[in-house]
Order: sequence, then structure tokens, then C-alpha cells
Amino acid sequence: MIVKAPKPKKVYVETYGCQMNIADTEVVQGLLAKEEYEFTTSIEQADVIFVNTCSVRENAEQRIYGRLGEFKKLKKKRPEIVIGVMGCMAERLRSKITGERANGVGQAVDIIVGPDEYRKVPELLYNAWHGEKGIAVQLSRVETYDDVLPLRTSGVSAWISVMRGCDKFCTFCVVPFTRGRERSRTVASVVAEVEQLSAQGFREVTLLGQNVNSFRDGQNDFSDLLQLVAEVDSRIRVRFTTSHPQDMSDKLIETISGHKNICKFIHLPVQSGSDRILEKMNRTYTREHYLNLLGKIRAAMPEANLSTDIIAGFPSETEDDHKMTLDLIDHVGYDGAFMFKYSPRENTPAFKMEDDVSDEIKTRRISEIIERQSAISEQRNAGTVGKSFEVLIEGESKKSSTDWVGRTDGNKMVIFPKGEFEIGEYRIATISRSNSATLFGTIQEQAGESAAA
Ligand code: SAH
Ligand code: SF4
Ligand code: F3S
Repeated sequence: MIVKAPKPKKVYVETYGCQMNIADTEVVQGLLAKEEYEFTTSIEQADVIFVNTCSVRENAEQRIYGRLGEFKKLKKKRPEIVIGVMGCMAERLRSKITGERANGVGQAVDIIVGPDEYRKVPELLYNAWHGEKGIAVQLSRVETYDDVLPLRTSGVSAWISVMRGCDKFCTFCVVPFTRGRERSRTVASVVAEVEQLSAQGFREVTLLGQNVNSFRDGQNDFSDLLQLVAEVDSRIRVRFTTSHPQDMSDKLIETISGHKNICKFIHLPVQSGSDRILEKMNRTYTREHYLNLLGKIRAAMPEANLSTDIIAGFPSETEDDHKMTLDLIDHVGYDGAFMFKYSPRENTPAFKMEDDVSDEIKTRRISEIIERQSAISEQRNAGTVGKSFEVLIEGESKKSSTDWVGRTDGNKMVIFPKGEFEIGEYRIATISRSNSATLFGTIQEQAGESAAA
């Protein structure tokens, strides 16, 4: 079937949500590039507007409805534009996106496509050019887009989805419903992709999955994959996210500590410091198990940096439960955290529990958590002043066109004057000052050799 647009059309994509969505946008762009679509970063020039959406919290969805309202206005002026909603909200809400709850903003939408149906995007677009609206939201047990070459815009860092879906069913979470069952890519295809990225001069890869520790391809588990990826090119830094605390193995810790180019940065979402709440969340580990795990990580890699995710105000959370979370934050000393107020999601098991912590209390608790963590982040970052770190130069600082931003192995952002340095180079930065989010420094003149140097 011919699925090309009548003449080259320009596609604009706006991406929300987690890194998996960023990687999926690149997959969709890869599929469209093969059909001779072009891409634009200017919405005014676009013939097609796609929004890749997130459903994880109510405010994520509200933001996207807001955007759809803007797109609807654009379509009034230029009725020939095609508007598509992809990602988790497309999967969760399906045709409801165009329904009443959307206050009419969804009427402008031509295409609704869920995370496992991206191969259909060219066909859906072809139909849209012929005036036909389309929806494709089947979930798959096998789709991994193993053979699709993502269209990447950065030439330095690459996202690689190594597994899709999630079978954990934490009671608060929509992801198992929007992304379907767990499935892994083959080791061979991931390694081949990293070899290609190495040949193209990429300097960093991040292996992605909702729970990368569940990766499996025959006899190979995630540590095997990580090791093989790390061995492709010692100048390529390897990162991964997200690990679930339940199944982070000793073997994985050994693999990370045993390879210089696997970054010593671990994002390990804890969600709550209270065993009673962890159980209600179906997180399948206790505070003790979690702290033991961190103990093992720190024993193997004292220099490792850690971050986490926390939810405040889960159903039935008491002041004591909340204090246990604050206490855990103090005890661990994370370098950073993503902190959220609990948001009830339809069809999840927690939705049936009473959302009995008032918004006022959730707000107070989350502020206490943020305040506590910011002070710790600030302190951890202050501890880097006077020290030197190898950084990979990633791009221009958002705040100043005369500065670069680079990242340390431990995932800290460092801002420094551009000098003669270039994006994609490894350099040694000496830190002169810091705040809770960023380090500031200067670069020594001689180049860093490699990620493993
Ligand atoms: N797979 C990852 C997390 C994916 S979602 C993991 O298990 O760690 C990212 C984060 O969003 C979660 O860690 C959680 O902290 C938060 N989150 C998910 N559902 C939520 C909800 N209903 N309300 C508030 N925060 C939520
Ligand atoms: Fe959601 Fe839990 Fe799966 Fe993470 S592990 S995606 S929080 S269900
Ligand atoms: Fe959001 Fe879907 Fe990611 S719900 S967090 S975009 S998997």
C-alpha cells in the first residue's frame, strides 16, 4: 500500500512524559523519514502536528488538553493541518479524547495512536490526507520496534528502549495499562545499534525501560546486556533507567562497578519510607530491603550518586508514614529526587481506595519533602566544590549562550565557559560553586581521553 503523503509534508512533534516517550518520538520520526516526510521545529510551518502524551498524573493530561486547545485554534486558521495524539493518553482515553470531557478541544484531532501501533502512523496519515480520521490503540505482547532506526536529533547522547511495558502493577500507576505487558528486545539488536552509534561518533547511550531489571533475552539478563553494551566502545558512557528495587541483583551491582564506562549513577524509586504504604502500593519490597540494597550499592561504589521518586499523600498515608519518608530521605542523602503529590488514576487498584488525604495536606507534605531534599541536594553539590570531574559536553547552557553544559559520570550538570571546546568532547571540569540543581566550573586545557580515562 502507498502511504506516502501527496507531496513532502512537514511534521512537528511535541513530546511530554518520560524518556521512553522521547525514544518513541524518535521511532515514529524514523518510520516517517522512510516515507519522505520532513520535520520542523516550527509549529507554524507544520502540515502535521503530533503530540506524544503522558497519563501518569492528572496534571500531565490537563496540560495536554491545554495544548490541544491551541492546536484547535491553529486548525481553524489552516483546516488542512492534520493533528495526531500519540502515546499513553491516546492508549488510556482512546476515542474519549474527542469526547465531551475534552471540552471540545479533541474535535480537531484526526489521529489517535497508542504506543504499540506506531508502525501504522504512515498509513493513518495517508488516510488523514484523504479526509479519514483514524484510531489505532491495540497493545502488543511482542512489538519492540527492534528493526526501526530511530531518527535522532542529538549526535552525542542516544536513548535506546531495551524493553517495553510493565508487569509490576504498582497500585497507583497507569503505565501497565497504557504500555501493556513487558517484552524485551534482543541483545543482538541492541548491541548492533550501539555499534552503529559508536561508528557515528555518539558518546553516551541510555538504556531505557520502565523496569530494566526485567530485561530478558534467552539466557541473558539485564546485567549481561549492560556488560555487552559497555564493551562495544569504552569511549561511550552507558546509563540506564529505571531500576525497580525489588529485582536489582548483586550481579547487576557488580557489572556496574566493574566497568569504568557504566556511569555510577543509580535512579532507584522508593515512593515511600513506610512499609505499610509500600505494601498498599504493591511495591513488593520493604524499607529494610531498600536500605540494604543501597548499602550494597554504596559498599561496591562509594562514589555512586543516587536519585529517587517519591509520592506524597497516597491513600491512608498518616503523619507517621509521612515522617518515615522524610526520615528515609535524611538517612539516604540522595543527590536528587522527583517528588509528586499522589494523583488518583482511573482503573488502577488505588483508585478504589479512598483518596482520603486532602489536597491541602498533600501540598504541605510535598513541600516538606521538597524542602528537605533540596537542602540535601545543595549540600551534596557543595561537597563537589574544589574537586574535578570528567564531563561530557552536551550542549549550550539554557541560561547563557557563552556557556556549555556538560554532565559528570554521576549525572550532575556542570556549566562552564565555552572556550575552544566542542559538543561531544570529554573534558575535566573543576567545580568553583554550586546550588541545589547545578555545578559551575572551569575546564582544564588538556582533553579527557575517554569515558574510561
Ligand atoms: N517505572 C518507574 C516509574 C515510572 S512513572 C518505576 O517504577 O520506578 C514515574 C514516577 O511517577 C513514579 O516513580 C512515581 O513516583 C510517579 N507516579 C506514578 N503514578 C503516580 C500517581 N498516580 N500519582 C503520583 N505520582 C505517580
Ligand atoms: Fe508504574 Fe510500578 Fe511499573 Fe514503575 S514499576 S511503571 S511505577 S507499575
Ligand atoms: Fe507518562 Fe507513559 Fe511515560 S504515562 S511517564 S509517558 S510511560
